[in-house]
Amino acid sequence: MAVKRLDYSKIDFAKLAGKSDKVNTDIMTQSDVENLLKMKDQVKEFQILMMKYDCALSEVRTKLDVLNKELSLINNRNPFESIKMRIKTPISIYNKLNRKGVDFTIENINKNLSDVAGIRVICSFIDDIYMLADCLAKQDDITVIQRKDYIETPKQSGYRSLHLIIKVPIFLTTEKEYMKVEVQFRTIAMDFWASLEHKMKYKKNIENQEVISDDLKFSADLINQLDLRMQQIRVKIDEDE
Ligand code: GTP
Ligand code: MG
Repeated sequence: MAVKRLDYSKIDFAKLAGKSDKVNTDIMTQSDVENLLKMKDQVKEFQILMMKYDCALSEVRTKLDVLNKELSLINNRNPFESIKMRIKTPISIYNKLNRKGVDFTIENINKNLSDVAGIRVICSFIDDIYMLADCLAKQDDITVIQRKDYIETPKQSGYRSLHLIIKVPIFLTTEKEYMKVEVQFRTIAMDFWASLEHKMKYKKNIENQEVISDDLKFSADLINQLDLRMQQIRVKIDEDE
């Protein structure tokens, strides 16, 4: 069977690549973005960039694993429960650049986005979050570019987490390159809320938007009280040991 090939001559990728305000991102698909890269002869460059972000994720993951091993021996419990990592998909990268009003180029990805590589660390207790984040931030090959403490100052929605944008070096065959990684630290309870809120927010036709938002905010505050309570219980148990 013959392989069906796309006729690129019929697609106005020049328009897609340039005038971002004229592009309807709703109809842009993952394969359109891949074709756009082909058209620009940037497929390899894009793959290399994603590989670098992937390596940066591995570096941060290893650092967290090392901390976890050491701290769990010292404290007899793991400072984090689980880690989730992801590289932003080409279509999300495209859409985000588009929202920012900049063209889809390799240079603009590096310059304008700090969450291409994302890692989420789910901790048991709030104090573990700060302890882990501090241990990571003070490592001498890590630079913290931005720190947003949505635990101390929750978002309007009720969202809580500690966000760090860090720069981490990766060592390639001929060079060392610093890559940006977004690290989100949350408790299990904060993750529970954020995951459900995210799911529900993307359900269409929400009636009583305001009431729902108030309800979600109320639930977030309730969850926070539980987090604090659980931490107090743990401190008590630690003291008794
Ligand atoms: P983005 O354009 O989404 O990256 O926003 P930003 O650059 O202002 O960064 P911010 O640190 O505020 O949020 C980045 C990420 O945090 C998002 O991609 C989500 O993963 C998470 N986040 C922020 N606010 C909320 C919220 O209200 N609900 C949920 N579920 N997640 C949130
Ligand atoms: Mg972001």
